[in-house]
Amino acid sequence: MNDLSNLTVVDHPLLRHKLGILRSKTTHKKLFVDLVSEISTLLAYEVTRDLPEEEVEVETPLERTTGHRIAGRKLVLVPVLRAGLGMVDGFLRVTPSARVGHVGMRRDEESLQPEEYYFNMPESLETRLVIVIDPMLATGGSAAATIDGLKMKGARQIRMACLVAAPEGVRALGQRHPDVHITAAALDRQLNDIGYIVPGLGDAGDRLFGTT
Ligand code: PRP
Ligand code: URA
Repeated sequence: MNDLSNLTVVDHPLLRHKLGILRSKTTHKKLFVDLVSEISTLLAYEVTRDLPEEEVEVETPLERTTGHRIAGRKLVLVPVLRAGLGMVDGFLRVTPSARVGHVGMRRDEESLQPEEYYFNMPESLETRLVIVIDPMLATGGSAAATIDGLKMKGARQIRMACLVAAPEGVRALGQRHPDVHITAAALDRQLNDIGYIVPGLGDAGDRLFGTT
């Protein structure tokens, strides 16, 4: 897959405004954490835009009317540790009853290969819509390995949401998992020679948790 058709970049001025502040190296930890959460809420609207609905009868204080509720598969959010944790509360703000599974994935700084160190999921993944959340999609290795693990546990319907994606990672994920659509706040230019997204925002985990 070379055409990036597996990617939707969300087109919204508020999101671009917040992402611009997030990218700045002068943005301090608390603001960074708050912005990741706010951008995640905006991403959650897009990722869930096509969820099936059904009509329900509602009694307002004045009369009966038709309301709507989400139908179909229940949601599972899967943050990729560590940085994905920063997106959980922003997603839960609009999908409060979603279950949350966790995958620990560490990228080796030399080889850039992902190494899994934790995997904990709710039951019955095959009946759920799984949304993998991670601020950064760089080589795509961590996302692809996470999705490998989810499919091995039975997940059939999987989406990915990230803040910043590199074209290299979008293509790599498209080749390995063509059924997984990616929603991002931005598509950046490229990876640099140490596997960082440029212009990017630096190391998302370190900026979220203050570990630089
Ligand atoms: C970062 C990021 C992704 C991964 C992306 O995590 O949060 O999980 O790198 O890179 P990739 O697409 O090339 O695999 P990192 O491994 O630095 O761990 P951290 O979240 O604990 O900082
Ligand atoms: N992980 C990050 O946190 N930032 C990048 O630019 C690439 C991988």
